[in-house]
Amino acid sequence: MVELKNDRFLRALLREPVDCTPVWMMRQAGRYLPEYRETRARAGDFMSLCMNPKLACEVTLQPLERYDLDAAILFSDILTIPDAMGLGLYFEAGEGPRFKKIVRTADDVAALPVPDVKRDLDYVIAAVREIRSALAGRVPLIGFSGSPWTLATYMVEGGSSKDFRHIKEMMYARPEVMHELLAKLADAVTLYLNEQILAGAQAVQIFDTWGGALSGPMYLEFSLAYMKRIVDGLIRENEGRRVPCILFTKNGGQWLETMADSGADALGLDWTTDIGDARRRVGDRVALQGNMDPSVLYAPADRIRSEVAAILQSFGPGTGHVFNLGHGIHQFVDPESAGVFVDAVHELSASYHD
Ligand code: CP3
Repeated sequence: MVELKNDRFLRALLREPVDCTPVWMMRQAGRYLPEYRETRARAGDFMSLCMNPKLACEVTLQPLERYDLDAAILFSDILTIPDAMGLGLYFEAGEGPRFKKIVRTADDVAALPVPDVKRDLDYVIAAVREIRSALAGRVPLIGFSGSPWTLATYMVEGGSSKDFRHIKEMMYARPEVMHELLAKLADAVTLYLNEQILAGAQAVQIFDTWGGALSGPMYLEFSLAYMKRIVDGLIRENEGRRVPCILFTKNGGQWLETMADSGADALGLDWTTDIGDARRRVGDRVALQGNMDPSVLYAPADRIRSEVAAILQSFGPGTGHVFNLGHGIHQFVDPESAGVFVDAVHELSASYHD
C-alpha cells in the first residue's frame, strides 16, 4: 500500500488538525481546461471518454498538474447508473444529458433492473483503479454518485428540467411508485460506491443537485431518507483508514441540522448559506465543504483572493473545513483564475490553523 503524501483533505473531513485548509473544485476536470477538450476530442465524445479508463485517468490528473489541489475526483458522470439500468444515456450538443428510454409508469419502474456493478459499470471501477495507481499517493481520490432523488429526476424527466413536472407528479400522485424507484436507486448507489471504495476511492461524495427543489417534508421523505440509507450501507473503513462520506444537497442550506444527523462525515454547501452560520448550526457533528460562488472566478485576482479571505474568516479558526466552490466550475472560466483561487486558500488559511 502506497503511503499518502498529502492527507489534509481526509483529515479535515474528520475534523483532525491540518496545517492549512485543503481545497479541490467540483468539476475540476472539465471544459474550462484546453487539455481536457483535447483529450475529449481524441476520445470522440464525452461518454467514450468516461468509458476509457486510461483517458478518464488522464483527464482526472490534468487539473492536478496545473494546481496544488488536495484531492483528485474520479472522472465520470452521475448518469452512468441510469445508463447501466438500460435507459440509453446520450448527450445532445448544447442540450445536456438525454435518455432514449424514460421512466414514467409503475410498470416502467418495476421493469428496471438494479445494475450488476461489476459487469455494467466495470469501466468506472477500472478507472478508479487506474487513477489510484497513477496518483501514487500524491493526494486522496474521491469517488462519487448522484443521490437517488437527483438520478430519478433525470430518469423521469428524460433529461435536465426546470420545473420537474413529471417527477413531482409521480411524487405527489403516485408516491408508492416514487418510493419504489428511489429504493432501487439507493440499492444501486450503495453497491456502486462500495465497489468504488474497494477499488481505491478514499472518500465518497453524493451529489444531490436537485434536492433543493423540494419542500422541507418532501426533501426528508424523498431525498434525505434515501441518502441516509446509502450512508448506512457504505463501507466506512478500508485500507486501515476511515472512508469519509460527503453529502451535497445544492440549495439545502435550510436543512443542515437534519443532514448533520444522517451519519455522513461532512456536508457540502453552496454559496447561498453563510459558512460561519452553518458551522454554528452543525457544531462538531460534521465537517463542512464549500462554498465560494463559482462566478467569483470571472473576477480579477485580487477579488478572488478577498472572497476566499471572507469565507475563511467566516468559518473561523480550526479544522473541519474543506474549501471548494459552491457548485461546479464554469466552462468559461480562465484556467489562471482557478490557480489564483487554489493558491489563495492555502496561503490565507495557514493562520487559522496551529
Ligand atoms: O468533478 C469532477 O471533475 C468529476 C466529474 C464529474 C462530471 N459530472 C463530469 C462531466 C462529476 C462529479 C459530474 C457530476 C454530475 N453530472 C452532476 C452532479 C453535480 C452537479 O454538477 O450538479 C450532474 C447533475 C451531472 C449530469 C450532467 N453531466 C450534466 C447536467 C452535464 C452537462 C451537460 C452539458 O452539456 O452542459 C454532464 C456532462 C458532464 N459531466 C461534463 C463533464 C466534464 C461536460 C461534458 C463535456 O465534456 O462536454
